[in-house]
Amino acid sequence: MRFGLYLHVPFCEQHCHYCTFPVAVRPTSEHAGYVRRLKTEMALAGLPARPRTVYLGGGTPSLLPTESVADLLDGRLADDVEVSIEVNPGTLTDGAARRYRAAGINRVSLGAQSFDAGELRMAGRLHAPDDTVRDFHALRDAGFGNVNLDLIAGLPNQDRDAWERNLDWIGRLSPDHVSIYLLELEDSAVWARQGFGRRADGDHGWFYRRAMDRLGDAGYLHYETSSWARPGRECRHNVGYWTGVPYRGLGLGAHSLMDGKRFWNTRSLTEYQARIDSGELPIAGAEDRTPRVRIEEAFLLGLRRRGGFDAADVARDLGIDYPRDWFDRVERLADAGFVSFDGRILKLAPAGLLVVDSVVEELLCPSLLSICEATR
Ligand SMILES: C[S@@+](CC[C@H](N)C(=O)[O-])C[C@H]1O[C@@H](n2cnc3c(N)ncnc32)[C@H](O)[C@@H]1O
Ligand code: SF4
Repeated sequence: MRFGLYLHVPFCEQHCHYCTFPVAVRPTSEHAGYVRRLKTEMALAGLPARPRTVYLGGGTPSLLPTESVADLLDGRLADDVEVSIEVNPGTLTDGAARRYRAAGINRVSLGAQSFDAGELRMAGRLHAPDDTVRDFHALRDAGFGNVNLDLIAGLPNQDRDAWERNLDWIGRLSPDHVSIYLLELEDSAVWARQGFGRRADGDHGWFYRRAMDRLGDAGYLHYETSSWARPGRECRHNVGYWTGVPYRGLGLGAHSLMDGKRFWNTRSLTEYQARIDSGELPIAGAEDRTPRVRIEEAFLLGLRRRGGFDAADVARDLGIDYPRDWFDRVERLADAGFVSFDGRILKLAPAGLLVVDSVVEELLCPSLLSICEATR
């Protein structure tokens, strides 16, 4: 079975004010122990075969010595495997980009977030815009032909001109892939706890539409809600998540979907270490994948893909037929400009892009949910 392998490296030098990923700010002396346990978890997991993609995410995997990164990837690589690593600007040491290439990494995601020094400082980032530019060129010089830049839109006090200047940098650097995330603040984020960071204005939609227009004009394909790529540079690993390819996530808080089952690891570093040290997988929970959970997920993931999804295939996989009023709802959503539907393929229309959760809620009508319930 081909699957996606995700390896989580939780360490960060600081906690950014918006972030709620499973991260740990720890001295570098703790990194080697974590890598050793991640390798133990890999052995305990009994991975099925060679993965089709590998993604080293974080946290900040680029804080690890490059030898540790090579050690984690050892034996998992073939020429056709997409191998990505997340790099925080300012953490790419001299020669690291070349050593990543030698270790088999062929895709880098550079967490630019913003090209405005003030915005970065305010968000608690440790890097400056120059670090992003320097690291981007170092990656190109080392031969990386597949580099992504992450930007966050809607940072507090970000105005329209500042957003245009961020997009100018995409034009200047011309990365192969761009991910643009609208700022989301969960209650546990530093900014949310300080009662700060949420914007009152309606600029989010404007930022997103400007990104769509400018990246489209620059030749990028908008292939998923937050993702733009040069043709052929779509992220295979992430496309796997959105199209139901099984994946195995190892490391702190990592999620997996294998053999139709979804489960996840503990988010406590202490528990992770203790469980691995006693020869156990650090799994903390699993989801009961009821037909309701599966249809909701199919709609959400399917609608995030700009090409949409085959609604008939989803019904067939679940062994159901859509009720009449489901088609009526789809028609109403289409008339209002939120979706398009040709009888099989359902996709978001431009007005639906920023309200995908509400569209999915509308599609999960009571009669469809009771049909799903009855198939249990
Ligand atoms: C796993 S995270 C962090 C990767 C890397 N440590 C970094 O900071 O550059 C991947 C991306 O998610 C985005 N992200 C994280 N928290 C976010 C939030 N609260 N709202 C929007 N985007 C967020 C950022 O763009 C980030 O680069
Ligand atoms: S945004 Fe990146 S660097 Fe900042 S805390 Fe989250 S994972 Fe760490």
